[in-house]
Amino acid sequence: MCGIVAYIGERDAQPILLDALGRLEYRGYDSSGIATINGAGLQVKKKSGRIKDLLELVERKPSTGTIGISHTRWATHGEANDANAHPHVDQSGKIALVHNGVIDNYQTIKRLLREKGHTFCTKTDSEVLAHLVGYYYEKGHEPDYRERLESALRQALNEIQGTYGIALIHEDIPDFILGARRGSPLVLGIGNGEQFLASDTLALGAYTKKVVYLQDFQIATLTKDEFHVKPLFSNKTMKLKIQKLDYEPGSAELGDFPHFMLKEIFEQPTAIKNAFRGRISIEEASAKLGGLNLTPEQLREIDRIFAVACGTALHAAMVGENIIENLANIPMEWDYASEFRYRNCPLERNTLFFAISQSGETIDTLGGLREAKRKGFRCLGICNNVGSTIARESDGGVYMHAGPEIGVAATKSFVSQVTIFSLIGLLLGRMRYLSASAGQKIIHALEELPNQIETILGQSAKIRKVAEKYANSKSMLFMGRQANYPIALEGALKMKEITYIHAEGYPSSELKHGVIALVEPNVPSIVITPRDTLYEKNVNSIEEIKARNGSVIALTNEGDPDIENLCDDVLYVPKTLETFQPILNVVPLQLLSYHTAVILGRDVDKPRNLAKSVTVE
Ligand code: M6R
Repeated sequence: MCGIVAYIGERDAQPILLDALGRLEYRGYDSSGIATINGAGLQVKKKSGRIKDLLELVERKPSTGTIGISHTRWATHGEANDANAHPHVDQSGKIALVHNGVIDNYQTIKRLLREKGHTFCTKTDSEVLAHLVGYYYEKGHEPDYRERLESALRQALNEIQGTYGIALIHEDIPDFILGARRGSPLVLGIGNGEQFLASDTLALGAYTKKVVYLQDFQIATLTKDEFHVKPLFSNKTMKLKIQKLDYEPGSAELGDFPHFMLKEIFEQPTAIKNAFRGRISIEEASAKLGGLNLTPEQLREIDRIFAVACGTALHAAMVGENIIENLANIPMEWDYASEFRYRNCPLERNTLFFAISQSGETIDTLGGLREAKRKGFRCLGICNNVGSTIARESDGGVYMHAGPEIGVAATKSFVSQVTIFSLIGLLLGRMRYLSASAGQKIIHALEELPNQIETILGQSAKIRKVAEKYANSKSMLFMGRQANYPIALEGALKMKEITYIHAEGYPSSELKHGVIALVEPNVPSIVITPRDTLYEKNVNSIEEIKARNGSVIALTNEGDPDIENLCDDVLYVPKTLETFQPILNVVPLQLLSYHTAVILGRDVDKPRNLAKSVTVE
């Protein structure tokens, strides 16, 4: 949530900042701003709306200078207007600061500063931090201005409660940027005669491949030729691990697709192949997951699995539960990371804990991981973003290698996460009850999935026709049973998130316990009805809906000639093992939401009120 980019070097800062900021727009997109320093002093420009609105503003009045900071916002405190956009300046008007995070005690500090004569122009918590740094700077005595600013930042950060990723500059020190992090990501990019700070490496790939991930409670100081990282509470420069960015040019570009969401839906066959590339052993009929950092003995000792995640990643964990229990016969539980982190959840010995997150930065998932670590559990991550905080703080894990996911609606990350659970299930299963032939059958089914998804993608035009029919629905009900219940939840989440049509996900069996009251002609039911052990039960649910004049879209496998007569529309998916069927079933639902959103003229990749990476509580 919120994207930050800072630059210092010899080039004009504005075009670099705005280009890099554009790559972070998915993190927040209700307003944006830029501050640079040149001979004339500090110049701050900010605008509500998208980065393109800021671009129009700076085209009319360009900012010059070779040092600057920039920000794209997802509002927490204060509505999305020009004033509340970042950067924020201090009382002197000389310090400009961009912030990602939440200052919990900002009201108390604001009151104290007001008593000292400070006046505030915005409703944000971030402006208070800018003022607090300015307050300590004015009080400072260090003859070196850089040292004085650094000391002021330390004192301010010492006083605040909450989370931050920040970058700040001072008009009188036009060759110096300060950054700091606690809870909100910040990465340092190292160039030749230029340095960068950004919320995420996507902003940096076009400029440098050398990065340092800042840890919590660290301060970074940047000049064009040098960078240093120090602990917040000491002035000692730290030895740094410079990492190489694995950046594929073009991977974060739209190409020929109209939206990132559609591009990412179509990338799912590749995402699955990438998830199992090099991780399958045909001879052993098993999976190889070295990143788990567990010995075969430790893997054999596991007798429970617990996963936390949010949103779509949680739905992947729910599908994972079915996979792990079916393939490995190990009980698995899951919880909303945001709930788990605050409850006293008893975890038994030999429990393996998973934090699942595409971004690897979701604050609640990170909070859940830290809580489990505090309790002494072995914690693994399933993340897409290499070097993300969750990946770094886990004891091991499995990277998804799905490539950048830019669309706010998660799609390819979901199938990738479920594929990884399939590999984990296979590995643990083969150490327990699964025979080699069963293992081979599973591998074969997994290898078939990419082609089967291609078949579904080939039906995109047909799904669009169905979307046209139902785009003006008042509400939609998504239903499925067992492992397809999370797919119903996921289908409803996608529909709500990008079309703003109200949607609910339920196990079909719950219909009679209340949901059926919602059934009416303008409230279609999407019933996930694979030809599995519960097929007839699902068909009974469809009959009940039809008996009450509800329209039904069935999602099923070929083989029942009667289903087309019973339902208003039928979407077919290829058949795979019952355990893996959810991986295929989710794809038509992603396409249904996508097409509905396009038909309704929604902003598919940047739906209202949302941001891709949720880094505030
Ligand atoms: O980056 P994460 O996987 O941790 O994100 C978790 C959720 O915020 C995310 O899946 C969200 O629910 C998506 N927008 C759903 O499409």
